[in-house]
Amino acid sequence: MNGNSSRILKDAWNGLRVRALSSRLRSGNPVQRARYDDLKSTFAARLYSASGEGEVSGFMTPLWETVNRDLRRSFSPYPPYAFLRHRLIGRTMVFHSPGLIFEREIEEVKRQFADGDLASLIREDDVGKPHLIEASTENGSIMTSHNTVHHAYHLSRFLAVARPDIDSLRTIVEWGGGYGNLAKIVTRWRPGTTYVIIDTPLFSCIQWLYLSVVFGSDSVVFLDRRTPLAFGRINVLPNSFADSYDLNADLFISTWALSESSREAQDYVLTENWFGAKRLLLAYQVHSEFPDAHRVGLLAREAGAAIERIDFLPQNEYALL
Ligand SMILES: C[S@@+](CC[C@H](N)C(=O)[O-])C[C@H]1O[C@@H](n2cnc3c(N)ncnc32)[C@H](O)[C@@H]1O
Repeated sequence: MNGNSSRILKDAWNGLRVRALSSRLRSGNPVQRARYDDLKSTFAARLYSASGEGEVSGFMTPLWETVNRDLRRSFSPYPPYAFLRHRLIGRTMVFHSPGLIFEREIEEVKRQFADGDLASLIREDDVGKPHLIEASTENGSIMTSHNTVHHAYHLSRFLAVARPDIDSLRTIVEWGGGYGNLAKIVTRWRPGTTYVIIDTPLFSCIQWLYLSVVFGSDSVVFLDRRTPLAFGRINVLPNSFADSYDLNADLFISTWALSESSREAQDYVLTENWFGAKRLLLAYQVHSEFPDAHRVGLLAREAGAAIERIDFLPQNEYALL
């Protein structure tokens, strides 16, 4: 077989693979559907008990108070399977800008992660029904989403600038984890990581549902004061229960979350000394409707973090340590 025909065969094979992948994702993943159907009915009771002590209201900014109130109504008694298509989720935590920004981000992600890791890192899931984008790699195509590539890009910048010893990042605390996408990426990349996401009771429940559907409910633990921290697994922790746990992190992450929390919340994280973490991966606004957003960068700089402007997102920065 000459080089030409083997390329034609390879292209045809890749074409078939992509069609199979997209149609599987479009027609749904029966395992994730079944898990969702199994778990969704406990969502309301979980939210009710997690909200027993309410949110830490002094920690909330007005925008997040409104988003939590409105979403509670929309996601009652549970979020729909396609919850990522909800307008409030879309507006507050789904980055979707196919084109030049996507190309830049995926090139950087490819530089940082070996081809073998890449597929498991950025492959999308059916649950939530994300907007899919096809990405080509040396081993063929992957169905991903821009939001997932965007999250993997944050991780890539952290690895490139902070250059941590990856094996030393055993416990990660994330403040404000959205629907749990970064926790999912990190868990696929480094299985066995102890990952704690602190968020509002509503978002803790959304993360619990999403991540349990993706990984199975044994892999995700809901911390409710009585339940101990589970090492080597994903722990979701409503902010109202955070003071019951003694967290000892190697890495503290917060992308546009501590910056969107109140000054009181930022002071709390500072009093906890970034939950003991010596490493930081932070993203925040320099100018925005959140009056204390930029303070996150100032505090991180004092802790020794390098500041990096995000040139394709004007007025936004990373702080990396
Ligand atoms: C803009 S979203 C960012 C989500 C995710 N980090 C990302 O980059 O896509 C802000 C996140 O912060 C959370 N959040 C807002 N106020 C919070 C608070 N007081 N305590 C903990 N999390 C909070 C929200 O629920 C949401 O998960």
